[in-house]
Order: sequence, then structure tokens, then C-alpha cells
Amino acid sequence: MGTVTTLKPNGIDELGRLRHQVATLEQLFEVYERTAIEQASRLQRLLEERKRAENELQKHKLHLEELVAARTAELVLKAEELARSNEELERFAYVASHDLQEPLRMVASYTQLLARRYKGKLGADADEFIGFAVDGANRMQQLIQDLLSYSRVTTKGKALTLTESQAACDNALKNLGQAIRDSGAKLTLGTLPRVRADATQLTQLFQNMIGNAIKYCGNDRSPEINVAARENGADWVFSVQDNGIGIEPQYFERIFQMFQRLHTRNEYSGTGIGLAICRKIVERHGGKVWVESQPGHGSTFVFTIPRDERGK
Ligand SMILES: Nc1ncnc2c1ncn2[C@@H]1O[C@H](COP(=O)(O)OP(=O)(O)O)[C@@H](O)[C@H]1O
Ligand SMILES: [Mg+2]
Repeated sequence: MGTVTTLKPNGIDELGRLRHQVATLEQLFEVYERTAIEQASRLQRLLEERKRAENELQKHKLHLEELVAARTAELVLKAEELARSNEELERFAYVASHDLQEPLRMVASYTQLLARRYKGKLGADADEFIGFAVDGANRMQQLIQDLLSYSRVTTKGKALTLTESQAACDNALKNLGQAIRDSGAKLTLGTLPRVRADATQLTQLFQNMIGNAIKYCGNDRSPEINVAARENGADWVFSVQDNGIGIEPQYFERIFQMFQRLHTRNEYSGTGIGLAICRKIVERHGGKVWVESQPGHGSTFVFTIPRDERGK
């Protein structure tokens, strides 16, 4: 018996349904296929976009790296140039001041000789003129001496070694003995630490600051000076405090520059190099220096020296 004969009357319906289902499945499959293709191409697009973005990023990164490298090279060059010109300037200051000393000594000693030998013999005018010449030569000698000391801070500086700042301060006070006695200055000293320093320069630093504290005291009082040190993080912070005439805030920076003074020679003697030397010494030791002051109420000169772990 053939299969056809086994088909029941509802077999036709069954076949129709199957066909229908197949058609539906085919439609579904088509939809799926279309969607899959669309998704794939979207994915492809996304991948391409990402690739483009990555390329772009890489390009920027390379550009940035190039920029950084160029800028670094430029800075290194600038720093080298600066060091070189600094060195040249130092050498110039040293040579100029050193070589100027000799002819100036001659001018000074002969004007002094003129003054001694011809005073009262050439008339009042001549005496006065010779007086000016002697005074000028003396002042110039002082300026050149100071310029030389300034340049010697670096050219003749000794290695930094463990140094008792207490002893450096004591030496400074000894050197200032006469000025301290004459002014009747009262000094109080805190405990001063051991630091890595050039002992001679540390003495010079204290001496300049304490010397100023005595000099800029004002006529209506005698100097009261306090020298102290305290720890602050990686630094020792030294202070030299006085009860003197004080300084206007607008001059806080300027007084540390070479030959900058706030007074005439008639008011207070000096060349205006002391604090410039102080700053150079402190910077050579890796520290900072500044002043805190209220005019009429004294000044405090402050400087830091990095603490030395081995020394402490
Ligand atoms: N302790 C101080 N009190 C007030 N003014 C000061 C003090 N120390 C320095 N100064 C001011 O700063 C200027 C510069 O000081 P410095 O460089 O030591 O030079 P100099 O003492 O030769 O004038 C001084 O002329 C003075 O006007
Ligand atoms: Mg001074």
C-alpha cells in the first residue's frame, strides 16, 4: 500500500500547516539573516571607528611626546646657558674687583699722601678737594672689597661639613665685641643646632645680621637681640630678631639686592652688600632667607638650612 493511500482526509490540512510553518520559518530566518547582516556591518563600522580613534589617539600621543621632548631639550639648554652666563658673571665680578684693587690702592695712597703733605699749603679749596678725593677713593675701596667678598661666597666657598652653629654665632659675637660694648646691646641666644655648613660663611651670616641689628637700632633705645633656631619639617629655621627701626614691607625684597640701602651714608654707614652676601650664603647652603618686620617695632631676619639626617 502506498503512502498516499494512508493519507487521511485531514492529511491535506496537516501538509498545508507544515508548509505554512516552513514559510513562516523561512520568513523568520530571512529576518534573522537580515538583522544579523545589519548587526555585523554595524559592528564592522564600530570597529572601524574605534580603530580610527585609536590611530588618532596614537598620533596625538606621539605629537605630545615630541612636544615634551622638545620642551625638555629647550629647558636643559636654557639651564646650561644660565649656568654658563652665571659663571661668566661671577668670574667677571671676581676679576674686575680683584684687578681694580691695585690701581685703586695707588690712587688712594697718593691722595692720602697729598692730603698729609700739602694740607694747609694749597689753600682751603685744595684741602676740601683733596678731602673729597680721599673720601671717594676710600669708599671705592670699600665697595670693591665688598664686591670681592660677594663673589668669594661661591668662588672661595669651602665644602659644607657638620658645623656647630652655636660656635659660628659665638665667633660672630666675638668679632662684633666692640660694637656690642659700644651700643650696650643685650643679646639672648637660644640653643643652636649642628648643621651642614661652611663654618666661616655661617659666622659671616650671623655677623652681618647681628651687626645690622646693632646698627639699625635707632637713637632712642639700646639694641635687644634674640638669636634662635627651631625645627620645621626638613629645615632648621634660624632667626635674628631685633627691637630696631624696622623696615617698610615694600623694601622686604630689595634690601637683599646688591648695593641696595634705605638710608644715606650720613644716617648709617655701609655699602648695602651685607644682606646680598647673606642671601648668597644661605642659597649656597640650600636654604632661603627673608625678613619680617613692622616699621618702628623691630625686624626679624629669618633663614633656613636643610636639616642633615646624619648630623641630627
Ligand atoms: N636689622 C635691620 N633693621 C632695619 N633695617 C635693616 C636691618 N638690616 C638691614 N636693614 C636695611 O637693609 C639695608 C641693606 O642692608 P645691608 O645689605 O646689610 O647693607 P648696609 O648695612 O651696608 O647698608 C640697610 O641699608 C638697611 O636700610
Ligand atoms: Mg649691613
